[in-house]
Amino acid sequence: MPLTTSKNILIRAYKEGWAVGAFNANNLEYVQAIIEACAEEKAPVILQASQGAIKYAGLHNIVDMIKNVADSVSIPVVLHLDHGTDFKQNVECLKAGFTSLMFDGSLLSYQDNVRISKSLVDMAHAVGIPVEAELGRVGGSEEGIDEKEIEMLMTNPEEAEQFVKETGIDSLAVAVGSIHRLLKQEAKLDLPRIKKIREKIDLPLVLHGSSGVLDEYIVEGIKLGIAKINVATELNKAFVQGMKVGLNKFPEEVDPRKILKFSKDLVKEVVKNKVRLFGASNRV
Ligand code: G3H
Ligand code: ZN
Repeated sequence: MPLTTSKNILIRAYKEGWAVGAFNANNLEYVQAIIEACAEEKAPVILQASQGAIKYAGLHNIVDMIKNVADSVSIPVVLHLDHGTDFKQNVECLKAGFTSLMFDGSLLSYQDNVRISKSLVDMAHAVGIPVEAELGRVGGSEEGIDEKEIEMLMTNPEEAEQFVKETGIDSLAVAVGSIHRLLKQEAKLDLPRIKKIREKIDLPLVLHGSSGVLDEYIVEGIKLGIAKINVATELNKAFVQGMKVGLNKFPEEVDPRKILKFSKDLVKEVVKNKVRLFGASNRV
């Protein structure tokens, strides 16, 4: 199928109480593994590229790869920019064919975050493309922040209400206890805070840093309005693990395709488990 936007799919998931998996892809094997897994699960899917992935693989290569693989399946596939930290990056992605954008102004002042998010919404909506923005900040495990600091960075429900009104965004990335790039599942979500945010705004919420979140919190978070869940680190771990397994089994192998098959298979398995956990299977 041709690429679709994230607008209707997120609203549907939000209303029906499940979440769309948003998986970060870095190369062809990721793209194939994610799309094949979701096609087998009959789950709509968001493939997302970070600025790092764009730098690594090339903007147009990412678009072409994802479009081509999406054309071969009959599930809705969205191409989303993950953590676009400037306006220009978003414009470039829009021009290149992305069907969903994100402005990440979490390091900016509230006013600057509103100003740039709103300009992006005005531009993207003119051509029917939805926009995600972030309020509060989901930190990274490498920052070594403690529980107190994580709490200080969390999304303020009253501010979220104001932010949504002022920007007109389509979905909101919230800081509610998760951290990016955790290698172990140990983070808990602040469920009462998600509930308060949800009482203030009627919009699909986005969970970043899901790799480190305990499954039971994911399930409860979805019931409270989380409708898009970003997964990157667990896919990366599976990819590298697959390479190790392959090389261990065939230490003399010189054909990388035979080694990367193990990576692809493990990434596929992670994606399928996530999609089932998110309640996204059999939604097509
Ligand atoms: O934007 C990407 C995600 O928030 C992924 O987080 O690497 O902790 O799964 P993760
Ligand atoms: Zn993120």
